Amino acid sequence: METKTVGVLGAGTMGHGIAHVLIRGGYTVLLHDLSQQFLEAGAARIAKGLNRDVEKNRLTAEDREKALSRLKTTMRVSDLEGADFIVEAVTENFEVKSGVFRAVEPHCRAEVIFASNTSSISITRLAATTQRPDRFIGLHFFNPVPVMKLVEVVPGLATSPETVEAAERLATSAGKTPVRVNDFPGFVSNRLLMPMINEAVYCLMESVADAKGVDDVMKLGMNHPMGPLELADLIGLDVCLDIMKVLYESFRDSKYRPCPLLEKMVSAGRLGRKIGRGFYEYPQGRG
Ligand code: CAA
Repeated sequence: METKTVGVLGAGTMGHGIAHVLIRGGYTVLLHDLSQQFLEAGAARIAKGLNRDVEKNRLTAEDREKALSRLKTTMRVSDLEGADFIVEAVTENFEVKSGVFRAVEPHCRAEVIFASNTSSISITRLAATTQRPDRFIGLHFFNPVPVMKLVEVVPGLATSPETVEAAERLATSAGKTPVRVNDFPGFVSNRLLMPMINEAVYCLMESVADAKGVDDVMKLGMNHPMGPLELADLIGLDVCLDIMKVLYESFRDSKYRPCPLLEKMVSAGRLGRKIGRGFYEYPQGRG
């Protein structure tokens, strides 16, 4: 089945970015969220991103208008009956994600593929909560989605080869480079990235260096575009903590224990750029 219309579930940081690259890639997107406010905020960020594409000559003004006309927003799951492919990008929590798939599935045709943008939850486990484990896959995008080239393509135990091919086609036509990885906790990306961020928080907690010092070491010594603490602020400290917990609980290995300072920051509500404060302060508010 040819994919023309993609349902994107969640208009937050990842969902709006995924919708952005899909409408730019020629797909019609049905962007779903629970509140009008989230939908409007997501659509405004997409419009701003497309304006930037025009300013930078990556898109003509005419193509921007065409792309925007392919974006529909909705609060009704029943509107997703028009989708040929679903990409879920809601909160990183098994119950929330499986609940969303359960709500959407009765409105979707049997052949529609479900993809989850989970950054660490087992695709096999999520797939098993649906009636279509063979048409279920992980499509893990990276933040900021319009900029980062990678999509991890994660087949679950029951995912069919046709589903993998369709998911790779979708990622490629959204301008991304798919890399296939197997369904293990954290996949490849977060199994490597999150322990580094967690260890950076330990360095801060143990006063090995202050936040800027920790970040400067990795930027100036390792050529990372952002230091690990800045990156944690970009990703969201709650997301980093959730992923560390998944790694710790899945591998049952103490090397993945979340740093107490990371837990404390999340308890204090210092979640990073999205709320204007994390390891750093963002006076402009939400980043
Ligand atoms: N949304 C959209 N575009 C953004 C953006 C955002 N939040 N932040 C920056 N950009 C764009 C800028 O507009 C600019 O684009 P132009 O070509 O139009 O100029 C481009 O990115 C470069 O930005 P800047 O010049 O302002 O700054 P920079 O050169 O320092 O790059 C960065 C910013 C791209 C974020 C870079 O610092 C970087 O690559 N950082 C690492 C990001 C990273 O590792 N992401 C993965 C996180 S892990 C994840 O997402 C998965 C997970 O499961 C947790």
